[in-house]
Amino acid sequence: PSLTQDELKTLVGQAALRYVVPGEIVGVGTGSTVNKFIDALATIKDQIKGAVSSSEASTARLQALGIPVFDSNEVEQLAVYIDGADEIDGQGHMVKGGGAALTREKIVAAQSRLFVCIADESKLVEQLGRFPLPVEVIPMAAQRIARQFAAMGGSATLRLKDGAPLVTDNGQHILDVTGLRIADPLAFEAQVNNWPGVVTVGVFAFQKAGVCLLGTRDGVKTLE
Ligand code: A5P
Repeated sequence: PSLTQDELKTLVGQAALRYVVPGEIVGVGTGSTVNKFIDALATIKDQIKGAVSSSEASTARLQALGIPVFDSNEVEQLAVYIDGADEIDGQGHMVKGGGAALTREKIVAAQSRLFVCIADESKLVEQLGRFPLPVEVIPMAAQRIARQFAAMGGSATLRLKDGAPLVTDNGQHILDVTGLRIADPLAFEAQVNNWPGVVTVGVFAFQKAGVCLLGTRDGVKTLE
């Protein structure tokens, strides 16, 4: 019988343990795949110093399992950051932010030497742009940024939660943008980063994955 998507996430979450450096602090992302990694990490928690977390949700899960969580300002550099993605291409460029944690994810990724992406094979794409692109914005700039995306052929909608605008861990809003073709992820990320009011664009090209552990029906494939 072939593995379910949930089982593929468990496989890559466990496979990521081999990148954890004993005695060090590990960078931890956010999402259902990372939750599997956190569960696996708990089994070796005595061998690590702790974690820097990218969301309130991951912090709560880490602490519940007895893994110490450090503030990112307490740590200069991390050896490794482990996180999922909503899309990843063959070069390690990703779209992230489906879980609204993209800003803290990019911050922790930036302070880490190696980004290890863990994903099931449904996340692998030829070119970024199929998954609606999350962009965290300052609320007063949301409509202007939406018009800038419209000028590029995109369509931006404000992400809602229980009928009201979703508020991120940083107190900001999220636009989800469809209809974009992201042919040059580095140039795209740089361009959108320049727009006033953009906190974080969900394209991870400057902070791309150095390794991707991809869960497939034939087992875990390592893309480097
Ligand atoms: C969180 O903001 C995202 O960047 C996640 O990394 C992404 O949504 C992957 O989540 P899943 O592992 O749940 O698919």
